[in-house]
Amino acid sequence: MKSQTGIVLANALLLLLISCESTALYQKSINWDSRTHQQTYTDVMARSDFGSVTGWQNSRAMISNGGLRITIEKNALSGAGGLISNTGVPGGTAYELDFDVKFHSQFEWSRGGKVGFGFGVGNGNTGCNLPTDGAGGSLRLMWYNNGNRVYFHPYIYHFGMPGPCGSNFGKSYPSTGSLQKGQWYKVHMYIKSNTGSNTNGHMQIKINGETLIDQSIRWTTNDSKRFINRLSFHTFRGGKADEWKSNTDGYIYYDNLSVRQISA
Ligand SMILES: *[C@@H]1O[C@H](CO)[C@@H](O)[C@H](O)[C@H]1NC(C)=O
Ligand SMILES: *[C@@H]1O[C@H](CO)[C@@H](O)[C@H](O)[C@H]1NC(C)=O
Repeated sequence: MKSQTGIVLANALLLLLISCESTALYQKSINWDSRTHQQTYTDVMARSDFGSVTGWQNSRAMISNGGLRITIEKNALSGAGGLISNTGVPGGTAYELDFDVKFHSQFEWSRGGKVGFGFGVGNGNTGCNLPTDGAGGSLRLMWYNNGNRVYFHPYIYHFGMPGPCGSNFGKSYPSTGSLQKGQWYKVHMYIKSNTGSNTNGHMQIKINGETLIDQSIRWTTNDSKRFINRLSFHTFRGGKADEWKSNTDGYIYYDNLSVRQISA
């Protein structure tokens, strides 16, 4: 009798543990502090920290003073010169992330490129592949040089976007003046799925505590594609035309990545 009660209790505890585990929200922090300065940050290391990574480039990833340095190679655009990596995360309807980013003191801006961490929704459309089927979207950041000044802008794929490539909603940080080389910026992103075809999703990007964008959005029109399911890490020049290239290698530094799922 006594041992049966024990078994019943043990089973109840097991069920409780299983249900807790299945509802636990994803959380990940990476700060590279324990890695060796000037050591290659290999795909094996990246996989061990991130859980999974696609498209890792060992020759372009190095530890620098307890942070991660990504090289974007001269005379090349997109994945040919930079890093386009994605990490699968549990499908969720709201996530947020934070990271620190710095452009090397000798960085050549060229016209611009994609920088930092971001999120993919459903099919995670990027690369001028517009989600006209309502099955995907993405929230990322660019640095952009308009000839007069250099700034971050949001870079967004969503249902109903005008195209031909990502939307920036006319937003920039800083709102006047330029980004500074050799200075760390703290980036915060928040993303929430919409339901059905409603414009009740949300996106927010803050830089150094200042709002770059904060508004509702319709990412998708298909409820089975509305889940945020990837963490993107895209660092490259481009754009497609030559003016996006640089004739020197460029370095962008990252630190203190933290990703949190807010709701399943
Ligand atoms: C929604 O996505 C699912 C999964 O890809 C697909 O089977 C379905 O046809 C889509 N629905 C619409 C209306 O496109
Ligand atoms: C990263 O976080 C640590 C701990 O909070 C902090 O000391 C450090 O300054 C941060 N790095 C950057 C580049 O802000």
